[in-house]
Amino acid sequence: MKVAPHLLIERMRSGDIPAIQAIEREIFLSPWPRNAYASELSQNQQAHYFVLRDGGRGDIIGYGGLWKVSDEAHITTIGVRAESQHQGLGTGMFAALVQRSYELGARWITLEVRVTNGHAIRLYERFGFKAIGRRRGYYTDNGEDAVVMWSDSLHAPSFKRRFVDILQGIDIVGMGPPPPSEYPHR
Ligand SMILES: CC(C)(COP(=O)(O)OP(=O)(O)OC[C@H]1O[C@@H](n2cnc3c(N)ncnc32)[C@H](O)[C@@H]1OP(=O)(O)O)[C@@H](O)C(=O)NCCC(=O)NCCS
Repeated sequence: MKVAPHLLIERMRSGDIPAIQAIEREIFLSPWPRNAYASELSQNQQAHYFVLRDGGRGDIIGYGGLWKVSDEAHITTIGVRAESQHQGLGTGMFAALVQRSYELGARWITLEVRVTNGHAIRLYERFGFKAIGRRRGYYTDNGEDAVVMWSDSLHAPSFKRRFVDILQGIDIVGMGPPPPSEYPHR
């Protein structure tokens, strides 16, 4: 008997967009329009999007993406469907984005988050991200400010050690290897 893996990380495909939009409608005040994901997947060479899938039922549970621009990774979105939150899946999805940032050769990761989004902010802080500024009125739907967060250098030993510790607690097929311990000479 073949045992289906519990959770999988895969690249997002255009056929995944309807399921992602259904999740976005339940978890985001302003979901992205359908053509935003379609053009990210087909036209943006800097974009890297992933889904977290239930390996048994095949449902999409979460998703996330980033743009790799120069030596920075800019996380553009992350979400976990409402019924599956608070089980560590957002941590797994975020870890996959950090792992891909290492693989893509990024040296820093940045993101914006709503100032009222305590769950997300705490999640990023657990990975060692720090709030370094605010963009006033960044979210046009309700005029809310964005907190701008940055990782430390991805090759700072303390950041990497913390990340490797988090990875050890995550069991997701397709996560990819931990970053190498030596300092990269690129
Ligand atoms: C932000 C988001 C992705 C986090 O996903 P998640 O799956 O709930 O994340 P986790 O479960 O890893 O962590 C969230 C909380 O659950 C807790 N948790 C994790 N595993 C747990 C478990 N087994 N039992 C109970 N609680 C648990 C964590 O400690 C954390 O608590 P805290 O927020 O009080 O610090 C999710 O809330 C989401 O999709 N939000 C809407 C979209 C959004 O805001 N995206 C971010 C935009 S910047």
